[in-house]
Amino acid sequence: MKTKQILTEMLHIEFPLIMAPMFLVSNKEMLMAGMRNGIMAVFPSLNFRNDGELSNLLDELNNYHSQFPNGNYGANLIVQKTNPYYIKHLKICAEKKVPFYITSLGNPKEVIEAAHSYGAKVFCDVTNMAHAQKCADQNCDGFIAVGQGAGGHAGPNPLQVLIPALKEQFPNLPVVAAGGIVSGTGLLSVKVLGADGASIGTRFIVSKECKVNEAYKLAIIDAGMDDIVMTTKLSGSPCTVIATPEAQKMGYTQSWFEKFMSNNPRSKKWFKMLVQARGMKKLEESVLPNNYSKLWCAGKSAELITNVLTCEEIINQIKNEYSQKLKEIVNNSL
Ligand SMILES: Cc1cc2nc3c(=O)[nH]c(=O)nc-3n(C[C@H](O)[C@H](O)[C@H](O)COP(=O)(O)O)c2cc1C
Repeated sequence: MKTKQILTEMLHIEFPLIMAPMFLVSNKEMLMAGMRNGIMAVFPSLNFRNDGELSNLLDELNNYHSQFPNGNYGANLIVQKTNPYYIKHLKICAEKKVPFYITSLGNPKEVIEAAHSYGAKVFCDVTNMAHAQKCADQNCDGFIAVGQGAGGHAGPNPLQVLIPALKEQFPNLPVVAAGGIVSGTGLLSVKVLGADGASIGTRFIVSKECKVNEAYKLAIIDAGMDDIVMTTKLSGSPCTVIATPEAQKMGYTQSWFEKFMSNNPRSKKWFKMLVQARGMKKLEESVLPNNYSKLWCAGKSAELITNVLTCEEIINQIKNEYSQKLKEIVNNSL
């Protein structure tokens, strides 16, 4: 397998792009648009928590995939003990033979075993080499390198360091770059660093198919890179949000008591669950249509986002800009 095609061949997609999973944001219409346009579209299973919802969605996506086989879809599972839906959702996904998984925040062992039993692939979100080594030891199929400024649980390290380091240590595993990418130039830049593709989140929030309230989309359009800050208040792990008055009021760092409870072996699990449940509720109050609280998760790529487009327009812009920039670089270097 040629290195340059490793990702598209492995994931059965036309173009090396992932529509990133986003809590409360990813929906069926966005996923289908991604599949129709030849990319990998991934959703967090937590967006489909009501009884029967996940299973019905998977039936529809499997059916859609048979009509549009140039794209593909995957599920994202938070593989932490504090996620009460983890095992239930994994079972449903495996029964429906989900072709691709992204795991986040914990040990991906069970997902990898289940997926490999029927030939599906598993990429793990990683922000550093130690976590990447643990995932590789479990036989993962690739990495999502989550760098600084990414939407959601951003990493502490720049992609310029993380990508080459992963490629050096794991030369046979594909690496997908996540964080700060909105364009074909961005995709090209991470390919130059050695990545096999890119995963894009924040740009797709500002799409016509995305059903979050308009105020959230406008806030991303208005935000510059300095308006995006990290907070540990929402989930216990560092997460990027727009610095609205609500976010400032909530605060960006946990108190000594919260830190103590999160680290104490006796209280750790239930306290983290409490923090996460509270954070989920706060986000829900801000994201859904007709809700007017303003606690919004977004990455630093908000700086570069200036308009609402359809998912198809976003993907086509990236594809066109990517080949145009590549041609320009090749021509200029001759
Ligand atoms: C609103 C929002 C919600 C997110 N939710 C999840 C999630 O549920 N699971 C996950 O693995 N990553 C989640 N992420 C991270 C994305 O999957 C992806 O890594 C990130 O958006 C890439 O950075 P970018 O936003 O700069 O493109 C989320 C990101 C955003 C912006």
